[in-house]
Amino acid sequence: MNEALAAGQQWRADTYAKNARFVADLGQPVVEWLAPVAGERVLDLGCGDGALTEKLVALGCRVVGVDAAPDMVGAAKARGLDARVMSGTQLLFADEFDAVFSNAVLHWIKDADAVIAGVAQSLRKGGRFVGEFGGFGNVVACRTALRAVMLARGVDPAPLDPWYFPTADAYAARLAKGGFRVDRIELIHRPTLLPTGLAGWIETFGAAFLSALPAGERAAAVAEAERLLAPLLRDEQGRWFADYVRLRFAAAKP
Ligand code: BEZ
Repeated sequence: MNEALAAGQQWRADTYAKNARFVADLGQPVVEWLAPVAGERVLDLGCGDGALTEKLVALGCRVVGVDAAPDMVGAAKARGLDARVMSGTQLLFADEFDAVFSNAVLHWIKDADAVIAGVAQSLRKGGRFVGEFGGFGNVVACRTALRAVMLARGVDPAPLDPWYFPTADAYAARLAKGGFRVDRIELIHRPTLLPTGLAGWIETFGAAFLSALPAGERAAAVAEAERLLAPLLRDEQGRWFADYVRLRFAAAKP
């Protein structure tokens, strides 16, 4: 799921399933870009609890899932999947996968070049690297509000901010530098319904910011973020929509 454990982000399969099931549910387009073929050997980089990994298996792929979060790997194993605890910056494979697939993970890893190098090493010649993650401007309103509530409490939010949201040009350049041919890359604006509201979203995705506050002060910080963002992100029926911007790409190892 992510590499931000040291920054106060804890990944728990139960809260992820409650607040973030939509992440895998909205992953179908990137599966379509992967265009998996039955029998292919696929690495699911950042498999989380295995919801999408399971779909690739159902399509006939032989899939290995890796994730840095042990609790998520445990949940993926409970689905009967081949899942392993492994950092995205230290992939331990060589020339063995037909494709590397990744959904909603790469924005958690600031050392993008290390990930790209590990993916290139894991793929056989001609293998594909297909993924989607947060792109430039992703959740800019939520991110600004989280930064603002931390600043208001005398905490510098910069070192807490766990995300890497590149432009299409910047990420394409990194892929090319890492030896990939970039076939497609697009930035997609996708306002996203938050099923458990902004508070649920912050619980799962914004924990790295709040971890710098004493536990007793976190609820007030979340309430302040809600007050700041309600006029922008809450509709007349009280539903919250986050300002998601996705970066979707398909590349190949020539
Ligand atoms: C995600 O992991 O899906 C995510 C993280 C940060 C902002 C938006 C989405």
